[in-house]
Amino acid sequence: MIVTASLTEAIEAYCGQRIFQAGPRLYIDGNPYHRPIGLAQLDRPDFTAPATEAQFLDPRQLVAGRILCSAYESDMILLPPNGLSSAKDDFDLFYSDEVRRLRDLIRPDLERFAFSFLADSVRVPPVRTLDELQAYFMAEVSAAGSPADDSGNNPLVDGLAPVKGSMRAITECRYAEEAAGLHLIQLALDALTEASAMARNLGGSYGVEQSELFKIFIDEFGYGVYSAKHSTIFRGMLASIGLRTDVHAYWSFYLTSSLVGTNYFNYLTEDHRGMFRYMAAVTYLEWLFAQGFADTGIMLRAVFGDRVDTKYCDEHAHIDIHHGRMTYEKLLLGFARTHGESVIPDLVRGIEETKLLLRLGDADFVAQIRWADTLAEHTTLGAALATAAADEGVAATLRPDDPFWTRVYDTDRLVAVTAGEVDVHAWATPRPHRLGRGDTLLVPRGRLHGLKAASSSATVRVSTVDRSEP
Ligand SMILES: [Fe+2]
Ligand SMILES: [Fe+2]
Repeated sequence: MIVTASLTEAIEAYCGQRIFQAGPRLYIDGNPYHRPIGLAQLDRPDFTAPATEAQFLDPRQLVAGRILCSAYESDMILLPPNGLSSAKDDFDLFYSDEVRRLRDLIRPDLERFAFSFLADSVRVPPVRTLDELQAYFMAEVSAAGSPADDSGNNPLVDGLAPVKGSMRAITECRYAEEAAGLHLIQLALDALTEASAMARNLGGSYGVEQSELFKIFIDEFGYGVYSAKHSTIFRGMLASIGLRTDVHAYWSFYLTSSLVGTNYFNYLTEDHRGMFRYMAAVTYLEWLFAQGFADTGIMLRAVFGDRVDTKYCDEHAHIDIHHGRMTYEKLLLGFARTHGESVIPDLVRGIEETKLLLRLGDADFVAQIRWADTLAEHTTLGAALATAAADEGVAATLRPDDPFWTRVYDTDRLVAVTAGEVDVHAWATPRPHRLGRGDTLLVPRGRLHGLKAASSSATVRVSTVDRSEP
């Protein structure tokens, strides 16, 4: 661990790079290197004490998530689909000596900050033998609704099948298209570079399991056929409903939980001590994906009807039945057979940590869409709470061409418009919620949003509110 002052300085130097500053646009097309980090939302950029599970939605986790995502992806090759000409300077900077030097300096401490809570929060059951591992795994996937028999893994979905779980929270939204869009945007964080974390585990020499992982990898990469590559099919799904398809076009709209979840897989593949946790996590997810993407396809057809191209969901509802079995038989059990008790606890830990991240991710996403869907109600609520503000608040003036960035707060806040008009962007929609002079919006802790002036100038005052008081 590097000492506090130099860690803070290195983080400030990293985040101070031009490519990590906000620009005037809401969405970032044609430039995968431009990633506003929003360090300014932190009173103190102090990452020395790890975030606890209770602090999972803390603004420091959002900022650390954006930094780590950029750090991991500077190990990958990203090029804009329409050519590099307008982004060549940013390409050079993103992969520069200076940025990589700072990245390598801050990454271990930020990983410790972001992921330590997993070890504290997860109870790893005492699974030691191959038989125990098999029983444990089958019990876990059954509990998650994807048992070993085919009854829970039916990819043959029809439009009449019920929408389930967090997918139902989407269809229940008043603005279901925006909610479904936000869900696909969260998936895009990983899916547009799908299996890039897996690629880090292809090298080296580790026996028959290495070749088994490679089989899955080449499926993900469409056997070298660009149109069949999973990331290409995912782009088709985005395009079919009018969403942008460039990598990180929606950078500002990734939720904290999505960043932490995707970073987790890069973390485990970048630091090879994490490989057994990674292999087990992949096994668990591949097993769940068949049912999960069948459910996603049902939800998308319920929201968008025939115009959505669900080939990505249909493909995963099909191929991940095989990937689930392959990873289970050949990776999870393969490593357990070869390396025994020295790795089985780590395998189990990977599954337990993934379960926790899935649960936290679901809760974050559902809370976001429920809030974003009811901003009018939260404006009424904000007005009612205006007298309960716990402090004077901080005033800011906004202009239409100001840099746009998104943030979260670590406590509930009231955003009061004292002059002009302001658009609230809580998801990627062409219909942001407009606040006029005198309006006050309640922004609950952890809810991602960005503000943009809708008049030539606008003033807001942001104050803390304690809703536990009568
Ligand atoms: Fe895939
Ligand atoms: Fe797969």
